[in-house]
Amino acid sequence: MKSEIEVFAPATVANVAAGFDVLGFALHRPGDTVLVEEGGLGGVEIVEITGDDGELPRAVADNTAGIAAQALLDHLGDRRGVRMHIHKGIPVGSGIGSSACSAVAGAVAVNELLGRPLQRPDLLPFALKGEAAASAGAIHADNVGPSLLGGMVLVRSNAELDTVNLPVPDQLFAAVVLPRLKILTSMAREALRSQVPLADAVVQWGNLGGLVAGLARSDYGLIGRSLKDVVAEPYRAPLIPGFAAVRDAALEAGALGCSISGAGPAVFALCRGDESAFRVAIAMQKAFDAEGLPSERFVSSINPLGAQRIK
Ligand code: HSE
Repeated sequence: MKSEIEVFAPATVANVAAGFDVLGFALHRPGDTVLVEEGGLGGVEIVEITGDDGELPRAVADNTAGIAAQALLDHLGDRRGVRMHIHKGIPVGSGIGSSACSAVAGAVAVNELLGRPLQRPDLLPFALKGEAAASAGAIHADNVGPSLLGGMVLVRSNAELDTVNLPVPDQLFAAVVLPRLKILTSMAREALRSQVPLADAVVQWGNLGGLVAGLARSDYGLIGRSLKDVVAEPYRAPLIPGFAAVRDAALEAGALGCSISGAGPAVFALCRGDESAFRVAIAMQKAFDAEGLPSERFVSSINPLGAQRIK
């Protein structure tokens, strides 16, 4: 019997307010699964994709999971055939790292199929190559990093792919709400300014430093004060109907802070304790309802493991 390997890779919240392109964390769910088995001609073949409403490319060279898996095979000089089945659990263009998730699952699944020749952190460039295809070539590891490695990941350098797993306080929970709306990362990046005024940069790096220190010291007050974004949020908020009302609802319900998840339209809040996160998620969802936007909500602690083999 041919052996099958199945890998689940979790969704992620990138930017985390103050860390545009350099900070992200993993959720427990939702996520994508990729199943691989040996077979077929040499190289990767995508046999089926489910859960994507037919939106994603089936050609390996255009598919994030296919690109990541093939890049790993090429790197290792392995010419075997790999048949791949992808199940999308994350809507495309939702702001919780859909393309990164598939790329991570593809790279991890093939690495497992080959007997794990590479260590987990060494898979980062292959997963990133897959994700870059879906983000018009922009290289940022703030989704791929946490989906692959788990936890709260600071990308010290995207160019050098130098990542740092940050400490996470025990009672830190995320509430994430996904409105039924699609925003492509490329579109959300076009909304940004190409230059950041010095005064805004000072605010942003103060907050990023504060957030990292707050995480290290389990100082929830400092985490909350630091969850502010003057670089991306003001320019992307107009793309999300009702964003200000959703953020206000989260803060009124007791969130430490609230901002756009990745490129949006998903919105996340960080909270102290799971009960608080459930209350906040419901309040955020109600605010989207008031805008006439149906949404899905998720509450999760920070997933420390990242992608996992499930078969
Ligand atoms: N840091 C990226 C952005 C994440 O905000 O554009 C989305 O992929």
